[in-house]
Amino acid sequence: MAPKVFVLNGVNLGTLGQRRPEVYGTLTLNDIEKILLSEFPGVEFEFRQTDHEGEMVGFIREAAESAGLAINPGAWTHYSYALHDALEAVSVPKVEVHLSNVHAREEWRRRSVVSPAVDAVVAGMGAYGYRAAVAYVLSRRGGR
Ligand code: DQA
Repeated sequence: MAPKVFVLNGVNLGTLGQRRPEVYGTLTLNDIEKILLSEFPGVEFEFRQTDHEGEMVGFIREAAESAGLAINPGAWTHYSYALHDALEAVSVPKVEVHLSNVHAREEWRRRSVVSPAVDAVVAGMGAYGYRAAVAYVLSRRGGR
């Protein structure tokens, strides 16, 4: 059976492509999803984006039965204990993804309240970060 991987994007990530392209790149979320589909043809993806925190909590819970998840929580990263707790309650491989290098930006972006609840963090690799995150999730299945 094809492994199911959730790719979750939070607040404001639906505007990728138009939003500060010098920081987040010119690819849209749809472009990134197409890249993942072509790079990992054996994976069944669940792509979700929402600007509503409670809806994201629901998506994280749904991913509990999957092979794993990649999540870019957007600005929620920096203050959402609700997302931290939802992620903590799900025991599949979990990767936090940031397109930009949050550590090289404003001071407040350097703190992630969700990082303690995930296995790995990718920041500053642009769209490639999502590919790395999915590859990591799949590697955990193979025990590598
Ligand atoms: C982001 C970084 C966050 O600080 C910001 O609020 C975002 C996007 C990134 O992908 O670099 O919305 O998560």
